[in-house]
Amino acid sequence: MRRLLLAALIGGLVIAQAFLGIETTQAATLTFACGTGDTRSQYCIDVANEWAKKNGHEVKLFVNPQATNDALGLFQQIFAAKSAEIDIVMIDVIWPGLLSSHFVDLRKYIPQDHIDAHFQSIVSNNTDAKGRVIGIPFYTDAGLLYYRKDLLEKHGHTPPKTWSELERIAQDILSKERENNSRLMGFVWQGRAYEGLTCNALEWIDSFGGGSVVEPDGTISINNPKAAAALDTAASWIKNGISPKGILNYAEEDARGAFQSGNAIFMRNWPYAWGLGNSDDSIVKGKIGSTALPMGPGGKHTGALGGWQLAVSKYSKNPEAAAGVVQYLTTKENQLRRAIELSDLPTRPDVYEDPKLRAENPFMGGMLSTFKSAVPRPSSVTGRKYNKVSNKFWSEVHSVLAGKKTGAEAVADLEKSVQRIKRNKW
Ligand code: GLC
Repeated sequence: MRRLLLAALIGGLVIAQAFLGIETTQAATLTFACGTGDTRSQYCIDVANEWAKKNGHEVKLFVNPQATNDALGLFQQIFAAKSAEIDIVMIDVIWPGLLSSHFVDLRKYIPQDHIDAHFQSIVSNNTDAKGRVIGIPFYTDAGLLYYRKDLLEKHGHTPPKTWSELERIAQDILSKERENNSRLMGFVWQGRAYEGLTCNALEWIDSFGGGSVVEPDGTISINNPKAAAALDTAASWIKNGISPKGILNYAEEDARGAFQSGNAIFMRNWPYAWGLGNSDDSIVKGKIGSTALPMGPGGKHTGALGGWQLAVSKYSKNPEAAAGVVQYLTTKENQLRRAIELSDLPTRPDVYEDPKLRAENPFMGGMLSTFKSAVPRPSSVTGRKYNKVSNKFWSEVHSVLAGKKTGAEAVADLEKSVQRIKRNKW
């Protein structure tokens, strides 16, 4: 009798909950690896909490190491231990082949039409061999050239179309402006030995028509004279003083710091630098121009393809709530907000079509074509071995920049290392 009463009571409660629309899922505190603890990651967590709080949950930031390759190393350790420490992870466009087995298939939690609203090329990059969708695109990235519009105009220059034009303009402006600012530098970029250098070097090589290290069909193409010449050209910027010696230790934020404090004429960086460079506390606010990266001899304009996706850990205790956050952050409305406020490139065509985007952030106007023509790193073809290939690549490039090897020596050595990494197959 007692049991019957208890069952009736529980049954009644369930019906009442369903009737009143009360959520039966437990309140969860979700940990979200969404950046390095800067204002951008705080923005991410704040927006995530809009959804989470409405649904009885809370989201906390897990602070990533600064460099993407260091973050990768940390996540590999955490996931190898099957740790539930992180629920949601922002993953680099080059990581799906390295980490996908640790993520849930988001098709279980997120409607197909939400997934299909994103660029197909990015969705397929986030889809594993079994057809599992392990990441929803968050924002995309493409390498760009930033320049000081005011200084170029003052000295009668238009933005450079080739690397040699950039060099000439930088020399000219440096010679005339250094008396006003002794710290002024010509061109800042990412020369530290890390993934960012892989992106920069791939751009130089691509702009010279020297291929993409490993081609989509698996051919190792790096040992060619155009690639060697591209690396020698970059090393010459340091020798002739266009770029400082310290560039060998510069990552994105170092370059942005120099440019944003008015100490550089040109900068290679990602779109995020536009938003920050034009913020109220930036002394170059309103003085920045941006364009495609220059061409090499007989080459083409270039820009490496970057970008970030949101994934849910297989070891999370709350995958459903975590997927809810992922879905909320990747809606049209929220990508539009990020594009306007942070100049993050949307991954949904419908955001680019929204008139509000161009009205509120004109910089975004030309961005769709830049994104579409960006050059991808060879992460799909090299799969699980990408990190090793990239590591060898940036190390060889770094030795050329440091004057320890010529471009020709470095690309020959790299070819051998990459052959060893490949062994028989990718
Ligand atoms: C940017 C890109 C990412 C790249 C990284 C290199 O964050 O979006 O794809 O790996 O820079 O530093």
